[in-house]
Amino acid sequence: MAAALEVENLEAGYEPGLPIVRGASLRVEVGEIVAILGPNGAGKSTLVKAVAGLVAVSGGRSLLFGQDISRVPAHRMVFEGLAFVPQTENVFVNLSIAENLELAAAIVRANRHERLAPVYAMFPDLARQRKLLAGQLSGGQRQMLAVARALITRPRLLILDEPSAGLSPKLVAQVFDKLREVRASGVTVLLVEQNVKAALALADRAAVLVEGRERIVAPCAELLGDERIAALYLGRHTGKQGMKEH
Ligand SMILES: Nc1ncnc2c1ncn2[C@@H]1O[C@H](COP(=O)(O)OP(=O)(O)OP(=O)(O)O)[C@@H](O)[C@H]1O
Ligand SMILES: [Mg+2]
Repeated sequence: MAAALEVENLEAGYEPGLPIVRGASLRVEVGEIVAILGPNGAGKSTLVKAVAGLVAVSGGRSLLFGQDISRVPAHRMVFEGLAFVPQTENVFVNLSIAENLELAAAIVRANRHERLAPVYAMFPDLARQRKLLAGQLSGGQRQMLAVARALITRPRLLILDEPSAGLSPKLVAQVFDKLREVRASGVTVLLVEQNVKAALALADRAAVLVEGRERIVAPCAELLGDERIAALYLGRHTGKQGMKEH
């Protein structure tokens, strides 16, 4: 069976001849939760943005359920079954919760009632507050809305860039519980995380990205307490700055 996502020797960046992602490879099996870890500036966001079509790919390729999506523009990715939740600006703050979700349904030309009902069932807090502007939501609720918006498009693979950023440990736990539910509903999940402890508890496997390439890929159970993880984050190997504090 094809993997949900296969990244093969991917090279991507913002300027020609200056790749940030330098030959990264990663396989995400169907039904898995995989975390991408790594120091600041390692290229984690660039990697997932390149997969999502938001950063130019200059080499290698990515396959979504066996289909090459390396040249698919970002706005077409939802039709391929990939939804991407960026770290910031992932909801429309001047629109209500309902309007945010309806817009997502409109983008995929789907019946909004049919699409919103199951998502509201999964996110009862959003259903209750559906008239509220997204900009009035707390950080945790806003992140829930960003995930809900992505689910409206019925992705087969959901990619999230630092869904725990700026959230208290309690809210991180709530968002991650929701991601477990998302996976249980049949969606494969790939997330970038700085919150290593929580990510290793959530994911099945993790890839540590350093200088644009995966350095370690292993089951999370093996990485808990792995000295290499601590060493990488303390910058002993990379000379880069350490983890962000949350
Ligand atoms: N829009 C951009 N234009 C030019 N260079 C960029 C851009 N975004 C990121 N970079 C550069 O690419 C490199 C990798 O950045 P990236 O955001 O992918 O790292 P990251 O691993 O996600 O880091 P963080 O943990 O801080 O989020 C950095 O050197 C950064 O300065
Ligand atoms: Mg980043």
